Amino acid sequence: MKRHLLSTADLSREDALLILDTAEQLAQVSGRSIKKLPTLRGRTVVNLFFEDSTRTRISFEAAAKRLSADVINFSAKGSSVSKGESLKDTALTLQAMGADAVVIRHGASGAPHRLAAWVDGSVVNAGDGTHEHPTQALLDAFTMRRRLGELDGRRVTIVGDVLHSRVARSNVHLLHTLGAEVTLVAPPTLLPVAMDDWPCEVSYDFDAVLPKTDVVMMLRVQHERMNASYFPSAREYSRRYGLDPERMGRMPDGAIVMHPGPMNRGMEIAAEVADGERSTIVEQVTNGVTVRMAVLYLLLSGSEPAIGGNQ
Ligand code: NCD
Repeated sequence: MKRHLLSTADLSREDALLILDTAEQLAQVSGRSIKKLPTLRGRTVVNLFFEDSTRTRISFEAAAKRLSADVINFSAKGSSVSKGESLKDTALTLQAMGADAVVIRHGASGAPHRLAAWVDGSVVNAGDGTHEHPTQALLDAFTMRRRLGELDGRRVTIVGDVLHSRVARSNVHLLHTLGAEVTLVAPPTLLPVAMDDWPCEVSYDFDAVLPKTDVVMMLRVQHERMNASYFPSAREYSRRYGLDPERMGRMPDGAIVMHPGPMNRGMEIAAEVADGERSTIVEQVTNGVTVRMAVLYLLLSGSEPAIGGNQ
């Protein structure tokens, strides 16, 4: 493993499988009544969140705490960032406090890469602009593997606002590395202009793809990143690219429905689908903690056994 986790495009197949297999071992701990391991005792993990987050921030906090690390939560609101402090000065402050790992979410694509040059500890990208969100892709792959078995040859369809989605990009790279075949379905206005380095297919016809897929991953329409009108109306978007019960009926038996959250219920996904049997949305959240435990463990104490050893 490298010292940082900045993008899934950097992960070898070996590294990705190591993370997923370690998470599988750690899942046993999360299922126990006492959820804590002493593995990262004495280590400090800083959660540095410049953008809003519910799941990801809580998930990293829970993961670090279950490994007995000390956790410092920093959100840009209420900090000196609102006084105009730069990312570099914030980084130097963290460095002076001896952070062993910094988990960063930032509105600017590339911010975690910059941070990695300024701190000695490990940097984990928890979402940077429209670029990457590697731990989301890892928890998604983990969830698929638990439901469907190995990912080689599996067909995954990612649907919706690909243009603004760091989740889509991270998933495309990771799933390709793990041997799955990815198809993106989106209106042309919600696809990136340059996709030469995206190892996947593109389709504009959701209904044509549905009968041939093992996984449908719906993406949130990211209104907050839209500065123009990307589709005629919410109704029109739902009609063509939303997943409702009727569409879900075209999926093969055993195929699953995923969404990273937060959802626009009734827009990209109908409530009955989100809460239905094929949905893994709640499992994804549970698995997120386990996968982030595996990432923190592998980055911070790779040579010691995850479970056992120093208990
Ligand atoms: C995603 C994100 O922040 O990139 N959410 C998440 O981390 N679970 C997706 C989104 O915001 O739509």
